[in-house]
Amino acid sequence: MKYDVEYVRAQFPALKKMVNGFPAVFFDGPGGTQVPQRVIDAVVDYLINHNSNTHGEFMTTIETDKIIDNARETFADYFGCSSDEVAFCHNSTTICFKLALGIARDLKPGDEIIITDIDHDANRSPWELLSEKGIVIQSVRFDPDTCSLDIRDYEKKLSDRTKVVAFNYASNAVGTISNARQIIQKARKRGAITVVDAVHYALHGVIDVKAIDADFLFCSAYKFFGTHLGVLYGKREKMEQIRTLKVRAQKSDPPLKFETGTLNHEGIAGAAEAIEFIADIGARHRENFLNAPAHSSERRKNIVCGILTMESYEKPLADYFKEELAKIDGLKIYAPPKDHPCTSTISFRLKDTPPVEVARRLADKGIFVWDGNFYAVELVKTLGLNETGGLVRIGLAPYNTIEEINRALRELKNLADER
Ligand SMILES: Cc1ncc(COP(=O)(O)O)c(C=O)c1O
Repeated sequence: MKYDVEYVRAQFPALKKMVNGFPAVFFDGPGGTQVPQRVIDAVVDYLINHNSNTHGEFMTTIETDKIIDNARETFADYFGCSSDEVAFCHNSTTICFKLALGIARDLKPGDEIIITDIDHDANRSPWELLSEKGIVIQSVRFDPDTCSLDIRDYEKKLSDRTKVVAFNYASNAVGTISNARQIIQKARKRGAITVVDAVHYALHGVIDVKAIDADFLFCSAYKFFGTHLGVLYGKREKMEQIRTLKVRAQKSDPPLKFETGTLNHEGIAGAAEAIEFIADIGARHRENFLNAPAHSSERRKNIVCGILTMESYEKPLADYFKEELAKIDGLKIYAPPKDHPCTSTISFRLKDTPPVEVARRLADKGIFVWDGNFYAVELVKTLGLNETGGLVRIGLAPYNTIEEINRALRELKNLADER
């Protein structure tokens, strides 16, 4: 497969960073990726040339409206939906609170909501809060042996009382990709609203909200080269149905009824540019996926090709990384079985070394990795690791290279030898 990693790397000014004399290695992608120059330019351009509030009569306010409208179109191509099904928000956690509090206005005590133990707290706590109203929260078991959701347990918990099923598309802690379509189909049979957290999945897989038939799906642009912004897809009729929390003067039509107050305009400009960056990667590598299924617009085709291309580059790197890590004495990887869909995020423990120490040691050498539970509290608890510092998490992004992986492997081998 063709992949021009040098071109991709050249887009990211942060990759020039040096730490203690070493070039920085950004393996911290699941916490947030680096940002290409064109995204930085879009933010700066907005603030210099178009900065204003919305819906006025003068030049910069009209330009601001246009930038936001264009960004909705861009994200519609990203999700595979129409632009009036896209809403912007501070971040994904806030989106989930808004959904939970809005949906709860029409729930009654005894109604049930299904969440999962594989999820980040962002898609758990907002729903758990509703137990104060007598709503029953059921959490689907995480199977520590397969590092995936226990679908039988999900089926057992589903009933005609289930009003919402909220789950993540991919685990930010161990990378497991769930079968979103299957989970949604089962919820649909019971008439439940489905809420998909695609925050970790977004960098690693094509999102097609109509194909999986999600009612709501959200993601955060800073996880895929963009700004710190949450983006929500909502099926038009579901958006209409939900009584969101809003001020009286705010529009009550979707998607604006989900957008409280003044938005982060420069963030929206930057987030849309991140999608254009992905589309550019796709346009440069179109021959890789000529047989990809037909998609509505030229930009969507490029976005799909961009994501598939980046993932096809990362997958063999991640496989190599895992194979080499597994050879290190006392290193245990926490991941789903080989044939189970998984992102290029790799989590592990090294002997009895606290993950924070591993992260510090790598940080000294300029290698950035995360440690802890990454807010995937129940998952890490089920693995029995919450009390001992959680996991070390390495996340690959399309700008990482085999040389960077070998650097990390060398350091980890040295550390293992010392313990
Ligand atoms: C899977 C997942 N869901 C939700 C979130 C929360 O996203 P945000 O920080 O945009 O609220 C994160 C953040 O790391 C995440 O990884």
